[in-house]
Amino acid sequence: ETPTILQGKRVLVTAGPTREPVDPVRYLTNRSSGKMGYALAEAAARAGAETVLVSGPADLTAPPEVRKVEVTTAAEMYEAVMREMKSSDVIIKAAAVADYTPVQTAERKIKKKGDRISLELRKTRDIAEELGKRKEGRFLVGFAAETDRVGENAAEKLRRKNLDLIVANDVTRAGAGFDEDTNIVTVYDQKGEVMSLPRMSKTEVARRLIGLIGERLNER
Ligand code: PMT
Repeated sequence: ETPTILQGKRVLVTAGPTREPVDPVRYLTNRSSGKMGYALAEAAARAGAETVLVSGPADLTAPPEVRKVEVTTAAEMYEAVMREMKSSDVIIKAAAVADYTPVQTAERKIKKKGDRISLELRKTRDIAEELGKRKEGRFLVGFAAETDRVGENAAEKLRRKNLDLIVANDVTRAGAGFDEDTNIVTVYDQKGEVMSLPRMSKTEVARRLIGLIGERLNER
């Protein structure tokens, strides 16, 4: 891996969770900390890429050479990614985007009443899938956070979303997935498994992934 493997390339990374508002004081979210995506943005910048990070709410700082765009909801992340993708050569989707959002956001705090209430949700737009349709020459990398049938589920997402690579992490394993400082990943392309990494820091996982992406781009 050379430090300039992505010199002259423009890389867009997404990171963190999204927050879907229920009412003025409540939201639906997930356990993503943003660590994996921030590590990728840093590794891309170090490899010479002009790097943009579209980040959901995360308690992390990006290195100064990375341009950060902050978003809150899945809909905002969709808009920001569609705007930024036009000038990107590589898009890496490490964010954990909400699959469902409340049909209505109450204008006032929902009052406690009765023993049960239900919340109606509707599907959000799948950003990665939309990028897959509009990818043209872009190199698309998705993540798959899985709890079972990791390889099969990842391969299915790779095909459905028309990705070049998918990075699968089994989020039930200790030292992998959400909020951990380390991850355990297996990478697939359209033909099958291409790289399997033992547990290592997200910083190191990011360096390896950027190395692999750089190699793939340079083979083109
Ligand atoms: O942030 P950390 O705490 O460091 O944790 C890292 C991580 C576990 C969040 C990360 O490694 C990871 O796996 N991110 C993807 C999590 C996820 O939501 O996977 P998914 O299987 O639901 O989605 C598959 C792909 O489609 C992802 O690239 C996701 O960004 C994308 N997607 C999903 C839904 C949606 N509406 N739009 C999308 O683009």
